[in-house]
Amino acid sequence: MSRPLTLALSKGRILDETLPLLAAAGVVPAEDPRASRRLIIEDMAGECRFVIIRAADVPTYVAYGAADLGIAGRDVLMEHGGAGLYEPLDLGIARCRMVVAATVPVPAPRRRLRVATKYPAITYRHYAARSEQVEIIKLYGSMELAPLVGLADRIVDLVDTGRTLRANGLEAIEPVAEISARLVVNRAAMKIRHAAIRTLLIRLQAQVAEAGA
Ligand code: ATP
Ligand code: PRP
Repeated sequence: MSRPLTLALSKGRILDETLPLLAAAGVVPAEDPRASRRLIIEDMAGECRFVIIRAADVPTYVAYGAADLGIAGRDVLMEHGGAGLYEPLDLGIARCRMVVAATVPVPAPRRRLRVATKYPAITYRHYAARSEQVEIIKLYGSMELAPLVGLADRIVDLVDTGRTLRANGLEAIEPVAEISARLVVNRAAMKIRHAAIRTLLIRLQAQVAEAGA
């Protein structure tokens, strides 16, 4: 029997929505990754194994072939750049928007806008497309705080319900991208493990279509 497919998953919000989708596609981890401290978990059928990593690391594991496939937000994939990856399926889960946000009323910008974000590459491209030079401040979370304490004039962050922005007196002022979780596949694995990957892809596609129907 050929080796199991390795699927990179991250704990947190995407996993909560991914597990039911995988289960419906016939892929069930032998242990609940949300409860286990193990970083490699087999599936019940022995067809797959899961590696459990940080969300931002999923494209790296898949691009290097340490995992054949992975599930990651489009935000993470856009920031990574996508080299070495196929993105064959929008899973339609963990939907949100990436926006530029600022305090209300929007303050007059200083000469060079300061933008705080977890996504420096996306932010750079967003402003470069408008021929605007900005100073980008890399943060790792709670971006909404930055404009409140004078660290930045704008943030680039994710918005779902808008509750976090509202609770902090901020508003979205420009769209950046529509976000949802995507299946990504290592380019070499797509050829070498074509049959196994195609079977999983077809099963997942059917579940995504059913969920969207
Ligand atoms: P880590 O915990 O490793 O630092 P993280 O905080 O980015 O990662 P999550 O908050 O679980 O992890 O987010 C994972 C993905 O879920 C994001 O990359 C994004 O695609 C999506 N996401 C994040 N926030 C929201 C939200 N408010 N609503 C819907 N989807 C979201
Ligand atoms: C995400 C995002 C926003 C919030 C938006 O943060 O960075 O802060 O969700 O969701 P809302 O519009 O529904 O309020 P998360 O909760 O993942 O925390 P983090 O800052 O630690 O990533």
